[in-house]
Amino acid sequence: MNWYRIKTSFTGLKRLATISAEDKQACIDAYKFFQRMQGGEKTETADETKAVAAYYKVLNNMLSVFDLEKLYIPPQYDDSKGLYDNQLICEQALLKQLNLQNPESSHLLDMGCGRGRIAHYLATMTGGQVSGYNIDPNQIENAIEWAAETNMTDRLHFKEGNHHDPLDYDSESFDGCFSVQAVWPFFKTEELDDCAREMYRILKPGTRYACSEYLLSPYFDWNNPEHAALHKIYLPTLAATQSMYPADVCAALERAGFKILVSEPSQRPAWPICEQKRNLIFGIRKVIRFLEKVRILPPWVEESLELLQTGGEAWTDAEKAKIADLNWRIVAEKPAA
Ligand SMILES: C[S@@+](CC[C@H](N)C(=O)[O-])C[C@H]1O[C@@H](n2cnc3c(N)ncnc32)[C@H](O)[C@@H]1O
Repeated sequence: MNWYRIKTSFTGLKRLATISAEDKQACIDAYKFFQRMQGGEKTETADETKAVAAYYKVLNNMLSVFDLEKLYIPPQYDDSKGLYDNQLICEQALLKQLNLQNPESSHLLDMGCGRGRIAHYLATMTGGQVSGYNIDPNQIENAIEWAAETNMTDRLHFKEGNHHDPLDYDSESFDGCFSVQAVWPFFKTEELDDCAREMYRILKPGTRYACSEYLLSPYFDWNNPEHAALHKIYLPTLAATQSMYPADVCAALERAGFKILVSEPSQRPAWPICEQKRNLIFGIRKVIRFLEKVRILPPWVEESLELLQTGGEAWTDAEKAKIADLNWRIVAEKPAA
């Protein structure tokens, strides 16, 4: 483990230990809200978004302790490598799919950019600019700090933003936009068109949107009790609020004017990496219990880890049954003018 990862884990623990009672309660309430949603309660998107922001405010610190600073699980492209290196392979593939003509002068948009680490890597690879927005100010603060620490503030631009609002960027200002497990899990079918139209608006003609996103596979059947039962357990753990089919997302993108170039399942599964992380969390729980006992960590941390583990198991079962995919790939192109 290198120094950066040790420092990140330590900072995550420190932030968890000092989190305000208000934020902590909001996070617990958010998880209960997600569970009620899965229990069938009808909810408004604005309330879902509020819950997502409250939940991620705590979760991003908790997961950073376990080397999950980029809040997504990639496909296991290379069995000999761990989560982080497989994330890099995933991001390289994403960039390739954007098919940039002039990478060094490019400006990309990262939708739901988390702590800005994917944006950072893409800017490093292209030599160009990347902007990103996220609903959670805590993650944006971290993204801005890291850009400053690495002298990248002239090429990385982060701000708060919500997928459900018009995007706060000029029309035809980007040479590509992308998302990694950050957009479609937060949309109801009837809301997809607004988002697709905004993506179309901000892209220059002839450029692309590419993603690696959680979507149901076409084999998922809402009327199958086994599918529905697994979905109910894993969805709150993914911190997602909705589950879309790729066909619905692609149809919305097409209605907005995009041409779909790719819509396909991930080439490799994510569950082996989920299992590795689950085992790591399991191993570390003894230490967490001790830290809770001596009151360094609040008692709900272990409870949250328990929920993450149960949800993780359900996810593995769902992915093995090929009913859902964490890294479904879509590449869509805005036609040249
Ligand atoms: C699974 S994480 C992935 C984050 C990031 N792409 C990464 O890999 O580090 C999902 C992200 O979506 C963000 N998010 C959720 N709902 C959002 C919304 N309505 N608008 C903007 N960001 C949102 C969350 O705050 C979180 O950072």
